[in-house]
Amino acid sequence: MGQRKRIAVIPGDGIGPEVVRQALKVLSAMRDAGAAPCEWDELPYGADHYLQTGIALPPDEPARLSREYDALLVGAFGDPRIPDELHARGILLRLRTELDLYINFRPARLLARRISPLRTVDDRGVDLVIFRENTEGAYSGLGATYRPGAPEEVGIVVDVNTRRCVERLIRAAFEWARSRGRRRVTLADKANAMPEAHGVWRRRFAEIAEEYADLESEHRYVDALCMELVREPGRFDVIVAPNLVGDILSDLAAEIVGGPGLAPSANLHPGRTGLFEPVHGSAPALAGRDLANPFAAILSAALMLDELGWPDAAETARAAIADAIAARKTTRDLGGELGTEAAGDWVAARVRQRLGA
Ligand code: IPM
Ligand code: MN
Repeated sequence: MGQRKRIAVIPGDGIGPEVVRQALKVLSAMRDAGAAPCEWDELPYGADHYLQTGIALPPDEPARLSREYDALLVGAFGDPRIPDELHARGILLRLRTELDLYINFRPARLLARRISPLRTVDDRGVDLVIFRENTEGAYSGLGATYRPGAPEEVGIVVDVNTRRCVERLIRAAFEWARSRGRRRVTLADKANAMPEAHGVWRRRFAEIAEEYADLESEHRYVDALCMELVREPGRFDVIVAPNLVGDILSDLAAEIVGGPGLAPSANLHPGRTGLFEPVHGSAPALAGRDLANPFAAILSAALMLDELGWPDAAETARAAIADAIAARKTTRDLGGELGTEAAGDWVAARVRQRLGA
């Protein structure tokens, strides 16, 4: 057996710890069966840590995490005691930018027709992936609030779109589409309202698309795309988008395939330590009540297994989730009656069974 992969686990706030615990049950099953030789350390970053120490993430921590670990698995950040979610920015957005994790990979795949709220889903099902830019755009942090609370208040943020970052994301999307046999790549932006910011997306996309003439490429304004996603979700394969556009689209796509309880994500820079997290937030109202759906966290761990070089283990985890949905061994949001812990136990047991362990 090669060297064990090392994972840093940051459960975070709200439902984060309870859903991450279920993902770790699945990883333990994989590890025990020899399918994913890994070990992990749990780190305390989150609202409690921030309130106690005043530090969201120590200055050198992103570099250390990237040096000492092969992957980061995180839960969720957000706490009603910290109104502006400053610590979430200080942890999550900092890790994304300082580790230069420029691809936010957000798959939306419908695992059973009954769990989509849409009746426009046809025999194609839904199986799309959003490539969201993850280091700049409207998340640049460049801006200011002038005279907060005063009648003259002004809020400004600069939407930064550098050709280098636009291009590397577009290329990643086309490369992935080609390598996975996907046919269509759709660019989503708002270049009609903000050509100064998004024109570079239109131009580079059109030029790069010529290098991928074997694939179909198309452009949509994001507002029109939202309508089309609801009208005909089955026609989309790969969607590439600026940061904020991709953030919003990925929640829409998640809802189409069963809601936040099922949406995983991977923050990637090929060849470097990636960060894996459910798309959902910390859901304080659900926290500690054994109600949260752990499948998004488990599916995020599956994306991590893919990146760590264990695609078979990843497929086993996804298959176990599909089995759970088919057998209605789920939390209530998906029509089952299980709590968070029991749903995690069921999937972990299924993984063991599938691995013959
Ligand atoms: C997400 C979240 C974050 C984002 C928040 C918590 C800053 O919504 O991962 O999609 O906007 O990127
Ligand atoms: Mn979001």
